[in-house]
Amino acid sequence: GFMRELKGIDVMELELKHKLGIKKVIIVPGDSDESLMVKGELGKACAVCMKKLLSGKNIIAVTGGSTMAAVAERLSPELTQKDLLFVPARGGVGEDVQNQANTICSIMSRNTRSKHRVFYVPDQVSTDIYESLIKEPDIHEVLKLIKSASMVLHGIGDAITMAERRKSNPEILNMLESSKAVGEAFGYYFNEQGEIVHKVLTIGLQLENLVGIPNVIAVAGGSSKAKAIKAYLKQAPASTILITDEGAARSLLKG
Ligand code: G3H
Repeated sequence: GFMRELKGIDVMELELKHKLGIKKVIIVPGDSDESLMVKGELGKACAVCMKKLLSGKNIIAVTGGSTMAAVAERLSPELTQKDLLFVPARGGVGEDVQNQANTICSIMSRNTRSKHRVFYVPDQVSTDIYESLIKEPDIHEVLKLIKSASMVLHGIGDAITMAERRKSNPEILNMLESSKAVGEAFGYYFNEQGEIVHKVLTIGLQLENLVGIPNVIAVAGGSSKAKAIKAYLKQAPASTILITDEGAARSLLKG
């Protein structure tokens, strides 16, 4: 009815926080599936949230994706009273340049007049390459920075969309479909129950590293991502802050 439609965003934020069992939910009006401007609003909300949480010296690990790119656009030198270092959370060479964590971190550091590190390793590696790459001194050093991050900023993707964007081979796509994968984050694919059905071998932050990181901010919106968000948050640490939009939030509250 009318009153339900008018349900305030602040009420929805609290309901969703309880439903998802996480620390906090921030909702921006609109649906990023329908308007590009809403993704910009997600970025702005993330910048405001970061400003509140950051103090002193911070290493901020960041993943790739178009939502993280929107966050980067909205960061400003207001954040620079703090000592910030942006590092890619994972290797991401393979995605489109504007969606790569390296690009995003460099824009974040430029917009906040702070520092960043580059991490030029492929998004997906074979076991042999993985073993030898992590022994490289430069890579080893960035990995240490990532693991000592005080904040992680990451996106959540629809499973099939992400597998196609990564140009995964047909066997992987079939496997994801038959195992009913709905969500993706950090290279892990989840079914609706939140179980990991596939994991891409990547160098960098692993799901189990998240528990030790004080501030974890997930930014994902659009009603088409509702299932993905719900699935991933079943695995996510309870300390996660979700920044989403009304489109995703309404679907999540219905489901
Ligand atoms: O892992 C999740 C993806 O990076 C999300 O990408 O923000 O472009 O939807 P997106």
